[in-house]
Amino acid sequence: MKFNFVCKDKNQVKFIFKGQIENKFFKANKGEILAWEDEICLGLGDEDKFSKEVFKEAVCSLGKFLNEKEVSEISINENSTKLTDKDFTLALVEAFVVSSYDFNYYKSDKKENIFNLVNLDEKFAEYKIDIDELEKILCGQFLTRDLVNLRSNDIYPETLANKAVENLQDLGVELKIYGVKEILSMGLTAFYEVAKGSDKEPKFIVMEYFKGESGKAPLALVGKGLTYDAGGYSIKTSAGMKTMNSDMGGSGTVIGAMKAIALNKLKVNVVGIVAACENLISGRAYKPGDIIKARNGMSIDVDNTDAEGRITLADAVNYAATEYKPALLVDLATLTGAALVALGETYTAAVTNNKESFKKVLNASKKSDEKIWLLPNDPFYKTYNESENADVKNSGGRLAGSITAGQFIENFVEDYSWVHLDIAGTAYLSAPQGINGKGATGVHVKTLYELAKEF
Ligand code: BES
Ligand code: MN
Ligand code: ZN
Repeated sequence: MKFNFVCKDKNQVKFIFKGQIENKFFKANKGEILAWEDEICLGLGDEDKFSKEVFKEAVCSLGKFLNEKEVSEISINENSTKLTDKDFTLALVEAFVVSSYDFNYYKSDKKENIFNLVNLDEKFAEYKIDIDELEKILCGQFLTRDLVNLRSNDIYPETLANKAVENLQDLGVELKIYGVKEILSMGLTAFYEVAKGSDKEPKFIVMEYFKGESGKAPLALVGKGLTYDAGGYSIKTSAGMKTMNSDMGGSGTVIGAMKAIALNKLKVNVVGIVAACENLISGRAYKPGDIIKARNGMSIDVDNTDAEGRITLADAVNYAATEYKPALLVDLATLTGAALVALGETYTAAVTNNKESFKKVLNASKKSDEKIWLLPNDPFYKTYNESENADVKNSGGRLAGSITAGQFIENFVEDYSWVHLDIAGTAYLSAPQGINGKGATGVHVKTLYELAKEF
């Protein structure tokens, strides 16, 4: 998608609040469109309910409309909203770009997205650099969305690793892809326990982007990388399984964020880590009741093989902590159904061992309009993870499920500042929301980018 700044009169877009014009056919509801000769009216809804988010939603519906009508040029000459010119311009670009996202990889009859030109008045050209930056961020976000939308017959540990290499290698990211032998020699034994039931070889993916001050402690990003989660012997229902190609959402976000950071050539030290595997049933699979060993020496009582993500993350965050001594460690995971129960598909659930660090993540999420809600890390909940026979149990039961899952991971971060983001609800939508359609959202690529930028 390209943007130029030549002001033309063709297909001028006017932004209209409810009550601003009298028309039987146009009430100016949010996202409502009235196209008339060379003018397009776009409804913004009630003026007193207006926000950047509302604006993006309206523009997104205009983007879809233009695509449908195969209109490839519009012009925007004035900002009649209450947004600053900069917010207006960037929200406009973001919503148009995102409206063009269409996951049609598996369709024989692919419709090309022809909408590729927005004519903004010269006065918006001032934000050319910001638009450029945003386009690169969204390029990372689109990569995430594609990776998460692709099915597990196409995206499995090896192909996920290949995608990371293809997308990042030429951008100055150093990649190391480790197979089973190295996974075991690096002591990632708990990760291996989850992985060993699958015929697909697990991959441990390390992505280093060290373009900041030499020797400065990095930002570590760790993503859950279950390319499929059938639940193992604590098997899921077929309905529960159906969308579990998205269980690598955390790793998709990390890979997409690395791309956004590298494309924009941020001068920061960031390391991305993904433990990629499948959670399946076989004669070699781990079983409920097994007691396994983690990289940090702790024993884990496998209460439920479907609480596999935290086991893989235990070793992944421990590796990130001990090998990189990060200034901040953020893990992202489609970790618990409980996050969906608590916050739906709207807010990501967070757990942290350091409120100051969480504030940094929260501030970044506010810049990117990606919602995060902090859950209480109360020590009492930790008793739910206690096991009779091992150091810890991998399931805390039904109560406070997203908190106990986070607290399980906390055992392995060696007291480094850590923020856990449970994106089980927000990474993959069952119904359209805001500017996103069904399926993968690429949530938190923008947040991680903003976090890295401030780092
Ligand atoms: N990948 C799932 C969590 C999930 C559920 C993500 C729905 C997206 C949508 C995770 O591995 C899982 O199965 N968690 C269990 C944990 C339980 C057994 C303690 C859950 O949430 O039911
Ligand atoms: Mn599971
Ligand atoms: Zn899972």
